[in-house]
Amino acid sequence: MSRTLVIVPTYDERESLPVTLRQLLKLDREFDILVVDDDSPDGTGALAERHATDSSRIHVLHHGARRGLGAAYVAGFGWGLDRGYDRLVQMDADGSHRPADLPRLLDELDAGHDLAVGSRWVPGGRVENWPLARRLLSRAGSAYARLLLGLPVRDVTGGYRAFTASVLHRVELGSVTSRGYCFQIDLLRRAVRAQADIAEVPIVFRQRTAGRSKMSSSIVAEALVQVTRWAVRDRPRRRGLDRVSRRHTATPRKATAGRVPRLGE
Ligand code: GDD
Ligand code: MN
Repeated sequence: MSRTLVIVPTYDERESLPVTLRQLLKLDREFDILVVDDDSPDGTGALAERHATDSSRIHVLHHGARRGLGAAYVAGFGWGLDRGYDRLVQMDADGSHRPADLPRLLDELDAGHDLAVGSRWVPGGRVENWPLARRLLSRAGSAYARLLLGLPVRDVTGGYRAFTASVLHRVELGSVTSRGYCFQIDLLRRAVRAQADIAEVPIVFRQRTAGRSKMSSSIVAEALVQVTRWAVRDRPRRRGLDRVSRRHTATPRKATAGRVPRLGE
C-alpha cells in the first residue's frame, strides 16, 4: 500500500485553506496533507494547526519567515521523504486546483508513470476567469521555457502535480535555489533530466475567489533570467541526453534503469 502526501504551501490563505482542506478530506482516497506556512501575517499557520488537531491526516510545517514558494516546497518534500511517503503531490491552497482532480493525477502514478503534471494547456484542460494579461503571461512563459529547455510538456509552470518519491530522490532538491514560481519549471526540468516517465493530465484551473495572488514582477523576472541561464548552461548536456534517449527508444525501459545524469555534469 503506497502512502501519499499532499503538500499545500500557504501565505495568507486564511479564507481559502479551510475550504481546500475540507474538500480534500472528503475525497475517497487515502492520503495525508502537509500545510507549509511561511509565517503568514493573517494567521493561516495557527488556523492550520487547529485543523491538524481535528484531523490526524493534517500536518503543519511552520517554515519561518517568507522565503518563497520554491523553498516552501523543498522543505515540504524533504519532510515527506524523511517520513517515508512514496507519493508526493503539490497543490495550491487557494481553490485554483480542484481537489476533485487529484484522483486522476494519482491514477497516472498507479498506471506506472513517475510524474503526473496537471495541465491547463492540453485538450480538456483550461483556465476559468483568469484576466487576459495573466493568461497571455502564462502561455508565453510556458512557450518560452518549453522551447529553450526542450521540455516535453505543454504546461511547464503549473503547480498541481503528483510525484513518486523515487523521482524526487533523483532531482537533488538540496541544490534548488529557485524562490518564486520558476521553481515549477526548475523541478520539471530536473525530473526530465532524471528521465522521469511523465504523464500530462488536463485540469481546470479556477481563478481564486478570496485572498490575493502572490505573483509579482520580481517573480516573473526571476523566471525569465533563470530559464535563460539554464538554457545556456544546459545546452551541451541536452544534446548528449537526446542521443541517449534515441538509442534506447526501441527497447522497453524503466525510467529508473541505468545511470541517472547528475546535476552540474
Ligand atoms: N509557503 C509559501 N511561501 N507559500 C506561498 C508563497 C510563499 O512565499 N507564495 C505563494 N504561496 C502559496 C500560496 O499561498 C498558494 O497556496 C500557492 O502558493 C500559489 O500561489 P498563488 O499566489 O495563488 O499563485 P498564482 O495563482 O498567482 O499562480 C499559480 O499559477 C502559477 C503559474 O502558472 C500557481 O499555480 C503557481 O504555482 C504557478 O506557477
Ligand atoms: Mn492562485
